[in-house]
Amino acid sequence: MLVSSLGFVRNVALWLLCVGVALVSWRFMVGGVESTMGFVAYHAMARPLAFYAHVVLAPVSLALVPFQLWQGLRDRRGTVHRLLGRAYGVSVLASGLGGLWLAATTTAGLVAALGFGLLAVFWVATTAIGIAFAMGADYPSHQQWMTRSIALTLSAVTLRLYLPVPLLLDLDFAQSYTAIAWLCWVPNLLIAEVLIRRRPSLIPAQ
Ligand code: HEM
Repeated sequence: MLVSSLGFVRNVALWLLCVGVALVSWRFMVGGVESTMGFVAYHAMARPLAFYAHVVLAPVSLALVPFQLWQGLRDRRGTVHRLLGRAYGVSVLASGLGGLWLAATTTAGLVAALGFGLLAVFWVATTAIGIAFAMGADYPSHQQWMTRSIALTLSAVTLRLYLPVPLLLDLDFAQSYTAIAWLCWVPNLLIAEVLIRRRPSLIPAQ
């Protein structure tokens, strides 16, 4: 009973956080970049292709996460899972390359640039490997690599959960932002590794 209640709470939190952060990320479509995300407006001016590829498509990949983790959908509607998986792959590729470009040109400093840049490389790589395993019908490996990919997609959520902390604790924001550029994804990836090792595969090997 307790286990199923915890599972329910976890699922509701996942849906709310993924869809909620995706919707909030598209706020510039209503209010414009300058007034809703002024601190990154310089990217929109200098490199609109990278910026809009990132802020339009990265939220698509985040919003797709709960759908792709929904076992009922995978079991009963395999075609929908594969279709949404392609959309996830395309949005990660385009927004990840855009994110890499934003990272290389951020004014947040070299350490933050390296944090975001490495995240972009790992994000695109883990997703590409995961999709390649699905195409080769190696579903246990597909599941492991997509667990890594999703852990990195969820960095968009963890980053936004950590951002208020320096303000609440009255810490230096620039230094905290540099730390968050790493903290938003390294622990996520470590947790993914623990989950993968604890439960190597939900799908029996072929
Ligand atoms: C996982 C790989 C990702 C990387 C490497 C990445 C990288 C970046 C970088 C470098 C910036 C500019 C920040 C700055 O220069 O200070 C940025 C901004 C942004 N990113 Fe990402 N990002 C990633 C994932 C996502 C995801 C999954 C979303 C979905 C919600 C997202 C949504 C945004 C938005 C909306 C902005 C504009 C600023 C804001 O509103 O916070 N990103 N990203």
